[in-house]
This record gives sequence, structure tokens and C-alpha cells, in this order.
Amino acid sequence: MTNDHHARLARYFPTVDEIPPEHGLAAPVHQRGYLIGGKILEWDGPCKTVRSPVCTRDATTGDVSQVEIGSYPLMGEVQSDAALDAAVAAYDNGRGQWPTMTVAGRIACMQTFVKGMVERRQAIVNLLMWEIGKSLADSRKEFDRTIEYIQATIEALKDLENDHSRFMVVEGTIGQVRRTPLGVVLCMGPYNYPLNETFCTLIPALLMGNTVVLKPPQYGTLLFEPLLEVFRDAFPPGVVNTIHAPGELVVPRMLASGKISVLALIGSSRVADHLKKQHPKSHRLRAVLGLDAKNAAIVLPDADLDLAVKECLLGALSFNGQRCTALKMLIVHSSVVDAFLERFTAELARLKMGMPWEAGVHITPLPGPHRTAYMTEAIEDAVAKGARVVNEGGGAFCSTLFDPAVVYPVREGMKLYREEQFGPVVPVMSFDAVDEALDYVITSDHGQQVSVFGTDAAQIGALVDPLVNQVCRVNLNCQCQRGPDVFPFAGRKDSAEGTLSVSDALRAFSIRSMVAAKLTEPNKALLNTIVREHQSKFINTDFIF
Ligand code: G3H
Repeated sequence: MTNDHHARLARYFPTVDEIPPEHGLAAPVHQRGYLIGGKILEWDGPCKTVRSPVCTRDATTGDVSQVEIGSYPLMGEVQSDAALDAAVAAYDNGRGQWPTMTVAGRIACMQTFVKGMVERRQAIVNLLMWEIGKSLADSRKEFDRTIEYIQATIEALKDLENDHSRFMVVEGTIGQVRRTPLGVVLCMGPYNYPLNETFCTLIPALLMGNTVVLKPPQYGTLLFEPLLEVFRDAFPPGVVNTIHAPGELVVPRMLASGKISVLALIGSSRVADHLKKQHPKSHRLRAVLGLDAKNAAIVLPDADLDLAVKECLLGALSFNGQRCTALKMLIVHSSVVDAFLERFTAELARLKMGMPWEAGVHITPLPGPHRTAYMTEAIEDAVAKGARVVNEGGGAFCSTLFDPAVVYPVREGMKLYREEQFGPVVPVMSFDAVDEALDYVITSDHGQQVSVFGTDAAQIGALVDPLVNQVCRVNLNCQCQRGPDVFPFAGRKDSAEGTLSVSDALRAFSIRSMVAAKLTEPNKALLNTIVREHQSKFINTDFIF
């Protein structure tokens, strides 16, 4: 990389004075509070300094350095034990206030929570932007999408409950079936969607009556600080507990205690495998996992190239490629690969690079220099094995800012062929026979989604049939993505365990339980009396509006 590139990239970083006051952090956030058993406790132990992906530039020297935006408690086993015990106590073997509360009561608490969360939108969005470098527009989108997800989950829960608000009589047996909670859920989200993906498991887990230990991701921690008092005030004590501690120190320990009933993790398959093995009775542990992915785009010879380029660009580089659903390998037919690369690199050159608050910005800084170092290593490995960076300036970097690189031709044996790069590097390979593209998907360890670009109905139809048995979503002429959230979000192989969607998540965090009785006169009278006199929260025929 030349010094010119370095200097060019350094100029994207502002000097301290150039940060627009309306988008700056009024003051660093030094979080000391953490929520356990309904109390926000004050931490006086060691803390972790939080550095933003955003750097500032010294106007005189031109040197850049990551902005310190705050700190949070660096807790240990004592606190994680306390958080877990508080969740266990609040669940109280299913007898706690929360697991026995009516669904209407839980929904009311959740609405209180939503109200408090919405009031803190600006602070949370700003922290999201500063902590993970997500553009302001996308940070707002993440927040708003999360609120919509909560409301949609509440509506789905009402439908679920109302469907079960009746007795069935089958072969002389009266039954009422409802979904009931599982116990204590350990919730851990990822840094790329720290709010949305954490809440995609936290919210359904809570609504179904479970109690929770929440461990925020390594980047994207401070944004939970404004929510501590909202959690405290909206839910009974111990229903939500937070822990800030190195994962490797406290998470295996929590699982080894045998007190966790559900592991909800959006992270790596390696970590998930390790954690699941810690539970002393693995059959008692349910896992809801969103894991690694290496989604491919297959561009067929008759594809609309403008459309394919536009979608592949968005798919590969939205939020700098830091999405689990990102397109991480482009497989383009050899007859169109040159034209594709020419248009792709031309469009890539038009993507705006800059700071997250800038309007229309697309490429923003990465979490730390370790990420730019990994991207560089992956590119160097590919180049040493015969590939090249096809776009001018691709792969140049300055601290956390990395110029996206298109690397071609990528082949088996290169890191970029199989590793999930999770960043702004776009590996491209070509194929002649469609079986070669299919073979890439079949031999992959990942099985989340794929995109197919083409116009021939016969060819696409024939390709879809094997692909749906390899991945869980085949996107035709568009990029891979999770939404809309009512659709199932799942994965095969190393990509996921369980299915998330607004309604599937409610099922994932609950189990059906039923009350059954022989269809006799005394039993009919007994059940009618229980319903009429509201003697049970489970046995009832109430309708939630
Ligand atoms: O990181 C994985 C996210 O769930 C992706 O969601 O496809 O809507 O960006 P998205």
C-alpha cells in the first residue's frame, strides 16, 4: 500500500473540531451500573475502555487515533453467579411472578418497556453509531426495526394465546394446550446488530415467561446502558439481569452450573459447540443459535447484469459486509465475468466512504485495526496464490478505515474461498458448468442462504430444487437478507440451530404443556367452575384483544 492511499484515507477522519456537535457524544459514557435482581448496582472494580471505530485526525501531524467514548464494568464470576441466581430466583421453578403472570399482564409490562425504550431512541442510536460505526441512517433503521419487531411479536403472541383459549375434546378426553416457559435464558447478541439481534431472542424469551441473563456483545455494550432503568421499571425483579464480563470467563461457567435452560447466541459455531458441551445434562439445554455464514451469489449467463451488480454490491458491502446474511462469495459465469467485474468495480468506486453521521455514506470504519489486519492477511493470502485485487485502491487502509477490495479469481485453498471474511472484501470466482457453482454450496460448511441471478425459468427452476435442500432461503435476483421478519430465518450445517421469525421465536422459547381430564360430568363441572371463577391463569378461555 502506498503512503498516498494511507494519507487519502486518513483525510476521511475528522479532526476533533470537525465532528458535527449534533452527532457527537455530549460526554463519554462511563457506565458503572448493572442490573441484578431488580436493582441497578454500582460497580467499583476494573473497567474496560471503549474505543470507537471512528478515529480523529491530528491536524498537525496527520496521525489518527480511535476516539475513546467511555467504559463499562469488567465484572467476573461473582457477578455472573449473582446475575444467574437472580434469574433462577425470579423463575422460582416456574412459580415466580413472571412465569405465572397472565399473558395479558406480560404484554402490558412489555408495552411499558417499549415506551421507555422509544423515549431513549436518540441516545441509543447515537451510541450504536459511535460504538460500531454503523451509519446514522442504518442505526436509526436498526432501532426502528427492533421496535416494529417487538410490536409484531406481541401481536403474534396474542394470536397464539387466543388460538389456545379453548378446550378440545378428543376421544373422551378434554384438553387445554398452551405454550409455557422453559426457565432461564442466556441471551447473547452479535456486534453487528447489537440491539436488533439481541432483542430478536430477548423479547420472545421474555414474553413467553422466561427469565433472562443478558450479556451484551463486546462492541455495542454501552447502548444498553440507557435501557437498564427501563428494564428495571418495566419487569418484576430478576426477570432481566445484565452481566458485563469476558465471555470465556463467565459463560462456560454459567452453562456448567446446569441452571441455564436456553442458550440464545448469535455468534460463531465454534463458541456455540464449546458452550453446549459445558452443560451437565445437555438434553436439558435448548439452543437457539444464529451462527457462521458464507452466502454465495450465483450469476448465470443470462442474468440482468445491471440488477445483479446492484444487488451483489448491496449484498456484499452493506454495513461494510458485516452482516451474517452478506454475500461473501460471488460465483459468476465465465461468459459474463469480465463484464460483471467491470460494472461491479465501477459501481463500487461510487460508494461513498466516510464517517457514520454523513448523509449517504456507505463505507464506514471497522471495529478496530485487528479487523483491517485480518482483511489484509486474507487478501495477501489470495494474491500469493494467484488472485489479484481488481479495483484501484482496493485493500488500502488507514487504522480502522478499509477500502473495499474485489479479489479475483478466488480458488479452493485460499482463505477467502471458505473463511467468513465478515468485512469489506468481495471474493469472486467464475464457473462454466452450473454444477460447479452448485458444488461450491454443497461442499460448504455453511447453509444459510444463496442468491441466484438469471432469467431462464427452466435453469432457475432446476437450480432451486437442490439449493433449497442445502440452504434455508434461495433469493431470486436479489441479495440475501433476513427480513421481512415474519419469514423464517434459519440455517443448515454450521449456520444455525432453530428457526427465528416473529412467530417461530415464540415457539423456540416455550414448550407446549396441557391440562387433560376424562370427559365426565364431575370434570366438566370442575373445569367450568375454574374458568368461571378465574381460579387458574392456565385454564381459562379469556380472549386477549
Ligand atoms: O447479521 C445478520 C442479520 O440478521 C442480517 O439481517 O439481512 O436484515 O441485514 P439483514
